[in-house]
Amino acid sequence: MMLLKGKDLLSLADFGQDDIYQILAKATELKRLHRLGKNVRLLEGKSVALIFEKPSTRTRVSFEAGISQLGANPIVLHGRDLQLGRGEAIDDTGRVLSRYVDAIVVRTFKQGDLENLAEAASVPVINGLTDDFHPCQALADLLTILEKKDRLAGLKLAYIGDGNNVCHSLMLGASHVGLNISIATPSGYEPKEFVIKKAKNMLRNFNHKITVANNPKEALLKADIVYTDVWTSMGQEAETEERKKIFAPYQVNSEILSLAKPDALIMHCLPAHRGEEITDDVTKSPNCVMFDQAENRMHAQKALLALLIGD
Ligand code: CP
Ligand code: NVA
Repeated sequence: MMLLKGKDLLSLADFGQDDIYQILAKATELKRLHRLGKNVRLLEGKSVALIFEKPSTRTRVSFEAGISQLGANPIVLHGRDLQLGRGEAIDDTGRVLSRYVDAIVVRTFKQGDLENLAEAASVPVINGLTDDFHPCQALADLLTILEKKDRLAGLKLAYIGDGNNVCHSLMLGASHVGLNISIATPSGYEPKEFVIKKAKNMLRNFNHKITVANNPKEALLKADIVYTDVWTSMGQEAETEERKKIFAPYQVNSEILSLAKPDALIMHCLPAHRGEEITDDVTKSPNCVMFDQAENRMHAQKALLALLIGD
């Protein structure tokens, strides 16, 4: 088993299958203790900086609350308030913050900027979402699936919509745990080729599949889990109207859901745009677990931090 201590999480390709299961087990334990009102102060006296160059509700609050529950001090920094916003180099920001804190969480645009910061930082760096990946979301999603279905390997997850950061991280996460994933996006909006290659490469030890195509009905057939995300991600706002037209056949609604298994979990990383990628009635279905996913962000991230920087 690889030791997680001191590692970065820039994408789920940084971790191995054992690491993922170790995080999920730790998250389950910390969640149970939290619900009993017995948070363990595993990170007493430590500090974690959180840099946000894009808006956030869940990532910010789940990290901030979780870090406090672990006895550590969260320091939330908005890009515009940092010298970074006035042109200070991102690698210098990483070097400087490493002198003060024990880990750095970063939400930014380019994966390359995150990689540069991580290269320069001497403390673990965690991706809190980039244009390419959202690994903390995928960890919470795997935890949610495991809780609801009691297993991961062999299930079929249909991802319908944009081949974006959330889709990319689900692909890598799915490869680690042997979850089959069928992706349906409009033509031209498929996941990036380098992620498809990486995910397929990581699948080599499993007899499981990743398919990328354009027909939502085929992808949904007998799915155990149906996942969608916004059609317009942060930073793509200029394309909103065009995307609404292109993505309309990819809406997760009750008609299309009849192709999935009747007990299929419906998942969304949130924020949701009801009436676009998902209908209001579907979000209200008892099978929809999007708020459990949101809750599990906190438990999964607490586990991650405890394993990366705990003593
Ligand atoms: N799912 C997610 O990352 O939400 P926020 O953008 O609110 O952090
Ligand atoms: N794909 C979305 C996820 C938001 C949590 C975005 O990047 O805006």
